[in-house]
Parts: sequence; structure tokens; C-alpha cells
Amino acid sequence: MFITLEGVDGSGKSTQAALLAEALGASAVLLREPGGTEAAERIRLLLADPETPLDPLAELLLFCAARADLVNRVIKPSLAQGKVVICDRFTDSTIAYQGVARNLGIVRVREISEVATDGLAPDLTLLLEIDPSFGLDRAESDDRFEAEGVRFQERVAEAYEDIARREPRRVIPIDGRGSPQEVHRLIMDEVESRLPA
Ligand code: TYD
Repeated sequence: MFITLEGVDGSGKSTQAALLAEALGASAVLLREPGGTEAAERIRLLLADPETPLDPLAELLLFCAARADLVNRVIKPSLAQGKVVICDRFTDSTIAYQGVARNLGIVRVREISEVATDGLAPDLTLLLEIDPSFGLDRAESDDRFEAEGVRFQERVAEAYEDIARREPRRVIPIDGRGSPQEVHRLIMDEVESRLPA
């Protein structure tokens, strides 16, 4: 089973991904995007650095390059072994950040992402919902995207809502305003109802 967590910067995804992996124990593989392989972690450093100017299309292709490496070298083999793969961000991030917030266009981003993932899509996506300005205050770093400010995060949030409306079976909105344990409970209810008995 392939589970992804999505949300604006500072929505608590990473904490929740870790709690979920801990709850599932040895059957879980916890990954983050961009990252999860040596090459993808190096691409992550470049993407995060606000000091390195980067064309939006180049940015998109770097996210997709990191994802292709992760999908082929880690996610697919893990799923083939029957693991539950938990990924902190995946293609929906690219649709929301590059397709909508960066204006590269949803159709184009979808097409390129499809090539990068070879069509692999999550079975379940947990969308952590919080007020984008609250998330920005909470986010620890000041990466390329957090530096774009609150309007950018609002556009990302709107894009996510749109995806959730279109794909209600896959994408489940989770109220991210509670304590980490409260949010974890909401997530476990969704995951447990979908895990094979
Ligand atoms: P992440 O480490 O999840 O940041 P945070 O923990 O602050 O939410 O992700 C790094 C940044 O990369 C984040 O601002 C979102 C952005 N991003 C994209 O723009 N497109 C993508 O495809 C992905 C995976 C992330």
C-alpha cells in the first residue's frame, strides 16, 4: 500500500508521517520528497537553497528527476515486497506548487509527472489542512518556497482543495489543527479502515 501526506509548508506532515510509520512498525517504509535516495537528497539541497536562482521549469524537472530515482530505486521495490510505503509529499505537491502556485500549468505538470513516476499513484493521500499563514509561522526553515510568502501558500492550499474535490476516494482531508496525537488519531482511523485485514 502506498500512502502519501500532503499539505502546505508547516502543516505538520513530517511529524504525522513519522508517527504513522512508528504505528505501523516494521511493515512501513518512511520516505520524504524530494529525498529518500542519495541523488534525491542532493537535488533537495539545491532545490531548497533560496540563494541559487532557478528557472521554474528547471525546478519542476529537478523535482521530477528526484522522484524518478525514488520511485524506481525505492518505492516500487518496497511495494513489491509488500511494505506500506509512507511518503511525505509526492506528485500532488508538484501539481500544487509548480503547476498552480508557479503557474506552469496543471496539464503540463501532470504529463511530466506521469513520465517521472511511470504512472505510479498513491492508494491513499492524507491532506493535512491548516491555515496557510499559521503554517508559514510554524515552518522551521526559510526555503525557496517559504520565502515566497503567504499568498503563495494560499494558492498551494487552494490547489490541494481542488485535487481533493476531484479525487475524493484517494485524497482525504484531515483537520490539522489539533495536537499531534489528535491528528495522528484521525490519520490512523483512515489508514486502519484501508489496510488489508
Ligand atoms: P518539505 O521538506 O516537505 O517542506 P516542509 O516540511 O516545510 O513542508 O518540502 C520542501 C519544499 O519543496 C516545500 O516547500 C514544498 C516544495 N515542493 C515542491 O514545490 N514541489 C514538489 O514536487 C515537492 C515534492 C516539494
